[in-house]
Amino acid sequence: MKLVFATNNKHKLEEIKQVLSDKFEILSLADISFNEEIPETHETIEENASEKSFYIFDRYKINCFADDTGLEIDVLNGEPGVYSARYAGENCSFEDNMNKVLEKLKGVENRKARFRTVISLIIEGEEYQFEGKVEGEILTERVGVEGFGYDPIFRPIAYNETFAEMDIKLKNEISHRGLAVKKLIEFLNK
Ligand code: IMP
Repeated sequence: MKLVFATNNKHKLEEIKQVLSDKFEILSLADISFNEEIPETHETIEENASEKSFYIFDRYKINCFADDTGLEIDVLNGEPGVYSARYAGENCSFEDNMNKVLEKLKGVENRKARFRTVISLIIEGEEYQFEGKVEGEILTERVGVEGFGYDPIFRPIAYNETFAEMDIKLKNEISHRGLAVKKLIEFLNK
């Protein structure tokens, strides 16, 4: 079965190709000559994931899936949430976003947060969603240099290292995206 992953992120594409059986041929947006930005106009991760997958399905009538991720900080009422990529403004860097979070949490004791990913899969027009989340806390400063995004300031519960210190294999096993992808794969390989 041909399945479009509504992303051009090479890392995410490779990750998925490695774990899906060869019943599935995974295509990227570039593979279907889609070069626009997919809009993300909603206030929830679930709606944005749906919006992205239906955007492709409605135009190409091809089975597809899309993911959306957010960092949810309890004391900030779930911010940055759907705005995780652009928390410090359009075209901001990962550094800008981390600075904004650290600034907002200055002197704050409750540093509980989680990463949450939702994958929206559309098969023959029917939508299925898969959620993965990892609980943790925001540190007071960056630790570690691996990964991307908020990794240097996020430490998952029950671990002594941040995502930015963690071996990538371990991160993929316990991470929000890893867990959501695992559910997707179990469903597809059934
Ligand atoms: P996306 O929906 O996968 O593009 O993720 C949105 C934003 O969330 C990214 O731009 C990152 O800032 C952040 N993010 C997503 N996944 C991770 C992660 O595994 N570690 C750190 N930050 C992440």
